[in-house]
Amino acid sequence: SILEMEVEQIKKGKYDHYMQKEIHEQPDSLTTTMRGRLIRGGESKMKSVVLGGLKDHLRTIRRSRRIVFIGCGTSYNAALAARPIVEELSGVPVTMELASDLVDRQGPIYREDTAVFVSQSGETADTLQALEYAKSHGALCVGITNTVGSAIARGTHCGVHINAGCEIGVASTKAYTSQIAVMTMLALALGDDSISSRIRREAIIDDFFDLPSKVREVLKLDIEMKELANLLMEEQSLLIFGRGYNYATALEGALKVKEVALMHSEGILAGEMKHGPLALVDETLPIIVVATCDATFSKQQSVIQQLKARKGRLIVMCTKGDAPSLCSSGACRFIEVPHVEDCLQPIINIVPLQLLAYHLTVLRGYNVDQPRNLAKSVTTQ
Ligand code: AGP
Repeated sequence: SILEMEVEQIKKGKYDHYMQKEIHEQPDSLTTTMRGRLIRGGESKMKSVVLGGLKDHLRTIRRSRRIVFIGCGTSYNAALAARPIVEELSGVPVTMELASDLVDRQGPIYREDTAVFVSQSGETADTLQALEYAKSHGALCVGITNTVGSAIARGTHCGVHINAGCEIGVASTKAYTSQIAVMTMLALALGDDSISSRIRREAIIDDFFDLPSKVREVLKLDIEMKELANLLMEEQSLLIFGRGYNYATALEGALKVKEVALMHSEGILAGEMKHGPLALVDETLPIIVVATCDATFSKQQSVIQQLKARKGRLIVMCTKGDAPSLCSSGACRFIEVPHVEDCLQPIINIVPLQLLAYHLTVLRGYNVDQPRNLAKSVTTQ
């Protein structure tokens, strides 16, 4: 009805779609996610993290033999982005499981494991089934959800709410960045007792406080991403190469492009390039390479050289100011993003790709908030 349509428009505010609104909300959703959890200053000048729902379980998690991250789709990708920092700061090995695959394999889960269930809705059938499975094997089960009172929030032993606010668009955007933020805070909390990593942890906490303004800055790429979408809208396929912290960025960027823009897209671990994907490279296939500044930078530099040698159509995402050191010939297009600590960089880097997927969808004339065949939460198998 007309009334319903008007209510919808009021909820979207100045935006045309929920996805667009939720992308632009990220400076605020991240602020709410961090609120009351990151502490800086005070008498002791100590910087620390407080996760109320986990404080009685941190010792058990630190002593567990392994942490298993479990989720589907975007929630899995968020866990993948946080994996390196959780391993670094906790010293506990982290393995990744797509919920359906864990259940299909009946993979081994032990009493000494901590199983972390990541789900925006908290109602995803596959993730819930994996939770029942892990519980029955005696693992400590931790929930990371956006929905208070959801099945996963209720069914886990302890957990953290991401507090990103209600997400309506089927494509998950602000929940992804808040999930990474929460799992990075989990890493900080797990590492809290280590003196040797203190400087590292404090640098991360400092950059957390700058994150909302950096996300605001990267959102200014909106017009540039619309131009890029214009250039790519007729393409059949788009590859995205990433590695390290930004392997997840490649997978998540590609998931956004396929699910809303209905364009084939594949996120590829750059380290795997020579093991097959390189054969696809020619003058026509567009390729995004994530090469922001971190420990893998020089490896990404050489990936870019090799793709250029094969005349690849490159779009390079790099840290502001790094463009000349990556490609001086004018053969590449650049997406320049602000720099933050390596483990927080995926939160910045996904934003231009969310914008790109959004504009591709609008230009291609598809339904942004309800892509065909998809549901916001997949409660059946
Ligand atoms: C994300 O854009 C997708 N719609 C989808 O992959 C989603 O992340 C997945 O179904 C998991 O949902 P959940 O986080 O609510 O468990």
